[in-house]
Amino acid sequence: MTNSPPKDEGARNQPGEKTPAAAPNQATKAAPASDGGKDGKGKIEPLKMRRRIIWASIWGFIGINVLMMMRFFFPRILFEPKTKFIVGTVPDFGLGVDTRFQQQFRIWVVRKPDRVFVIYARCTHLGCTPDWKESESKFKCPCHGSGYDSDGVNFEGPAPRPMDRARVTMNPQGQIVVDTSKLFKCEKGKECEFDDPDAYIPV
Ligand code: FES
Repeated sequence: MTNSPPKDEGARNQPGEKTPAAAPNQATKAAPASDGGKDGKGKIEPLKMRRRIIWASIWGFIGINVLMMMRFFFPRILFEPKTKFIVGTVPDFGLGVDTRFQQQFRIWVVRKPDRVFVIYARCTHLGCTPDWKESESKFKCPCHGSGYDSDGVNFEGPAPRPMDRARVTMNPQGQIVVDTSKLFKCEKGKECEFDDPDAYIPV
């Protein structure tokens, strides 16, 4: 029994056969041609770089113009509070002055034994907003000291006349609708408008 000597790996290949180790080397050489414009060192070619910069500039210019056009859809508007709004039903208000709507609509709702009316919270001197002083049962203007009773009638300070009243109507649901675009005045020497049917709601 004779032992034949072990053949080494290279000896297994027949003359003329390609060795498997040659394939990876070929693939490595082909790679740079399909690498997104990068040269063999991984850098972007100058021509492609210039193109990218030009396109980025064009898109940037278009984007800025589109944003400027969009701005026209959102003009700078000062939104005034609504002049017509609902404040509730008559039973929502107890006797006296209700200040709940002063901040939002600049009004006070006043309920008397026989009527509900709405005072527009603007001093008739120079237009400041008076404060309701519950303990003194009066409105006091912080600007020059005018005082008004709970009906909004002036009795002290430089205010020339009572504060105006807003139109009030009832809608079909029995709610009080206030409209501050229509104000009723009570000026000296003129007929007082406070008894106009739209200036109060009888209760
Ligand atoms: S603005 Fe009210 S007293 Fe002058």
